[in-house]
Amino acid sequence: MSKPSLAAIRTSNLAARWSYRPTAMFVGATSGIGEGTAKAFAQATKGRAHIIILGRSRECADQIIASFPQTPESRYDFIQCDLSLMTNVVAAANEAKTKIEGPLNYLVLSQGMSHAKGFTPTSEGIDIKLALHFYSRWKFVDELYPLLEKAAAEGQEARILNVMDPKKTKPIDVTDFGLKKDYSIIRCGQQNSAYNNVMVEEYTRRYPNLSIAHVYPGWVKTGIARNTPMYAKPVVAGLRLLCKSPEECGEWMLSALLNEKYKQGGFFLEEFGEEIEILKHGEEVRKLLVEHYRKETDLSSPA
Ligand SMILES: NC(=O)c1ccc[n+]([C@@H]2O[C@H](COP(=O)([O-])OP(=O)(O)OC[C@H]3O[C@@H](n4cnc5c(N)ncnc54)[C@H](OP(=O)(O)O)[C@@H]3O)[C@@H](O)[C@H]2O)c1
Repeated sequence: MSKPSLAAIRTSNLAARWSYRPTAMFVGATSGIGEGTAKAFAQATKGRAHIIILGRSRECADQIIASFPQTPESRYDFIQCDLSLMTNVVAAANEAKTKIEGPLNYLVLSQGMSHAKGFTPTSEGIDIKLALHFYSRWKFVDELYPLLEKAAAEGQEARILNVMDPKKTKPIDVTDFGLKKDYSIIRCGQQNSAYNNVMVEEYTRRYPNLSIAHVYPGWVKTGIARNTPMYAKPVVAGLRLLCKSPEECGEWMLSALLNEKYKQGGFFLEEFGEEIEILKHGEEVRKLLVEHYRKETDLSSPA
């Protein structure tokens, strides 16, 4: 089946209707894919929404919020946070809880970075890339699932969209969770992809009333490659010619987020929102990964 056109997707997004004012949180939305998706959501709701965006740059957040449609029912918030630390994730989630008046309908996770360095531990001992691309994402779910469950209980939308890459996976190395022994950029991408897939399965079991999707955005012309080393810049410049804009990607991401087919359950999606088959990792690996995740993000024990 051929994919719908961008124009058709945009029209369909703009035709979405809510009988209540939806609340959506976009984590990592001060640029790139998160920004594109938050903007598409603001347009689709015509400003009748509570939107919270998270990231470090207040300047970017202010500009993005200024571009949203304004109505008497609009409420837009920014939470400034460095999400490479789990303590900060908990603080940001707590701040969000004080701002959210009712349930939370949508949680979109796209915080991320790229660099060509090796294992780079944060002060909590987790590799910074994995902290942003894996641990912080599920930590947000841990902190906010009651508000999503509340939405589901009230018959409202209750969805999580995790923007990363469900198809890059390789078998999980259970002897090296967190890649503290053997780290490379490629291995990090593959293990991170597999970790996120397994967590979709785990959290779908725990919270069967929610929709939890892991989606690949495709190649998108964002700031993600800003730390590319000089020698690789010409290649990146060439690849950018093949990329979608963040606005275009945002429409596709929103279309996946609102798709009736994915209203409840766990899903693995490609860049235009179709479901894909993924490599399965089995019960034992799932248990071990969840145990590892719990230990790494347990703030009651020293790093
Ligand atoms: N672009 C692509 O082609 C592509 C392809 C596949 C997967 N992805 C994945 O999609 C995700 C989003 O990427 P993007 O292309 O949209 O990149 P981007 O434009 O660089 O956006 C990344 C977002 O994450 C936030 N962020 C980064 N470090 C942070 C930190 N320490 N604390 C809090 N927020 C932080 C940034 O905000 P601040 O700088 O304000 O903190 C920004 O809002 C990434 O995980 C990326 O790996 C991207």
